Order: sequence, then structure tokens, then C-alpha cells
Amino acid sequence: MFGKVKEIVEEIKASSVNTKEDLEKYRLKFISKKGVIPSLFQHLKDIPDNKKKEFGQAVNEVKQIAQEKFKSLVEQLEKASGTSETLDFDLTLPAEDPIGSIHPISATRNNIIDVFKRIGFNVADGPEIEDDWHNFTALNFPPDHPAREMQDTFFIRKNPDIVLRTHTSNVQIRLMGKQGPPIRSIMPGRVFRNEAISARAHCIFHQVEGLFVDENVSFKDLKATLYYFAKEMFGKETKIRFRPSYFPFTEPSAEIDINCFICGGEGCNICKYTGWVEIAGSGMVDPNVLESCNIDSEKYTGFAFGMGIERIAMLKYEIKDLRLFTENDIRFLSQFKTVP
Ligand code: DAH
Repeated sequence: MFGKVKEIVEEIKASSVNTKEDLEKYRLKFISKKGVIPSLFQHLKDIPDNKKKEFGQAVNEVKQIAQEKFKSLVEQLEKASGTSETLDFDLTLPAEDPIGSIHPISATRNNIIDVFKRIGFNVADGPEIEDDWHNFTALNFPPDHPAREMQDTFFIRKNPDIVLRTHTSNVQIRLMGKQGPPIRSIMPGRVFRNEAISARAHCIFHQVEGLFVDENVSFKDLKATLYYFAKEMFGKETKIRFRPSYFPFTEPSAEIDINCFICGGEGCNICKYTGWVEIAGSGMVDPNVLESCNIDSEKYTGFAFGMGIERIAMLKYEIKDLRLFTENDIRFLSQFKTVP
């Protein structure tokens, strides 16, 4: 029996494990109640009396060896999985199959920013909660002028001088007030209007404002800039037309249409059967606006434009219902797996 004990010790010492399953096998074989070591104790009765003590000690020793070995195997396994983790995972690497996607509004905004950055525009930001001066008055909306009615404004009840901005044009005023010409900036952001939510309207949406103020800026510059933008955004074949319009802060003003690439000009419900879809409002900055920002309107001229990001995204991705952008339906969002 002593020989058998020795064999078992050898076997224990030689044991190694690579997986949790191996470890469990080891435990079952040597340590568990039905394992080899407890069964050795059962042989005690067959051992001659004068050897019983010695045998008992030997078996106790094996038991201890087996338990110590078990502990070291556990540690070894933990270490191994720890090392393999640090080797296999570099948390700084970009994920191969990213979870989630860029929201189409963010993707479109980034796209618009990229196009304007290429022609020297920088990006500016301004507040969503705004005072009447920056949202209306400095933009040449006289008090009680019906033009204010064009934009269904959310007022702050306790202070009607404070509004949720109805457009990103407020950032023009903030920029001109802070910084003198030359200014060449685009200003993306969220805007708010008291509109019933439908397929074509929402009370929260996004715009990108553009402003270029310098000496000798002309309508020609405005046209060239927006032609460039439309072709970069919608393709080289895009046709553009400027349609006379009215905004209090620009004179002259124009709305910009592109040819409806959805129906190819034949007429559809997107272009309301005109063959053209509107993408932006624009114009030469009204001298009154420059003056209200202390910019000499004899020396400087400028152009401005503003566009709805939802509108551009709807055209670009052929989305027919504005509500899809805010419903967070995974079936809709997962179509835009355009993580750069
Ligand atoms: N602020 C206008 C709107 O929300 C859009 C706009 C039109 C902005 C013409 C401009 C512009 O800067 O020149 O409807």
C-alpha cells in the first residue's frame, strides 16, 4: 500500500491543467469524497497494526499535497486566463463590428460640416435658450412685425424676453458681436418651434447656419458657395436654382432649390410635382443686421444661409417621414451602419 501512496503523490505532482474542466477532473479524482485519497483511508483497516500510524501519516501527507497542488492549479489557471486577456484584448483598438451606428442626422451634419470645411469655413456654436435680441431684434425683425409669426416661438413663461431659439441665425449675431470680420463660419444646432408633430414637421429639429462677412463679398460668392455645396452633397449632376424670397435679415433673399433626383424631374410627392425641392434659405446680410452688430456696412458685406439638416437627410436617404428620426426604432437606425 505504501507503494500505491507514493504513486499517487507522483501522479499529483505531475498533474497540470489548462481549463476549468481539467481542474474539476483533478478535484474529483483526488480530493472529492469519492476521490482516490479518501479511499486510501478505507485501506487503513487492512494495514498491520504496527504500520497503521505510519500509513495514516502518509495518507494525511498526500491529502495535504493534493490540496496544496489544487490551490496552485487554481492560481495557475487564474493567471493564465489573466495573461491571455491582456494579450488578446487591446481596449484602445477600434471595434471590428461596432455596436450601434451613427444617427442619420449626425451623419448628415458631419457631412455638411466636411463640405464647408473644405472651402475654409470653421464651425461655431451658440445657445439654444436665447434672448429676443439675438433671435429676432438684431436680425431685423421689428417688434410686432408679422415676420415673427413665421416662426412659432416657444417663450419662457416667466420671462417672454427669453425664447427657445427658432433658428440657428442667432449664432450669426453672437459671432458678429464677438468677432469682427472676416467671418467665415457654419453653425450647426438644434432649434425649436411650436409645431404639431407630423410626417413633415417637428417641434425640435436641426439647422446649419452659414455666414461669410468680409470686404467685397457679393451675391456671386453666395451662389458659388451654395452651388459647390449642393454638388458635393447630392452629386455633380445636381441642378440648382435661386428663387427670390423674403427674410428680414437678408436683402436680397433667395431660396435654393435642387432638381428632384427622386423622380428625376417627372414630379412626385417629395417635390410636390414641381420637379424642384427646396434645400436652403439665403441672401446678402441686410446692412441693418451688420450695423446692429457694430460692423461698418459701408466697408463690409456678407452673405448668409440656413438649411434644415432633417430636410437634407430626408433627401439624401429618401426618408419620407420626419418622425422616424426621433422614434429610435432599431429597424430604422440599423440601416445607417456608417461608423467611419
Ligand atoms: N433662419 C431661416 C429659417 O429658420 C433660414 C435662413 C434663411 C437663414 C436665410 C439664413 C438666411 O441665414 O440667409 O427659416
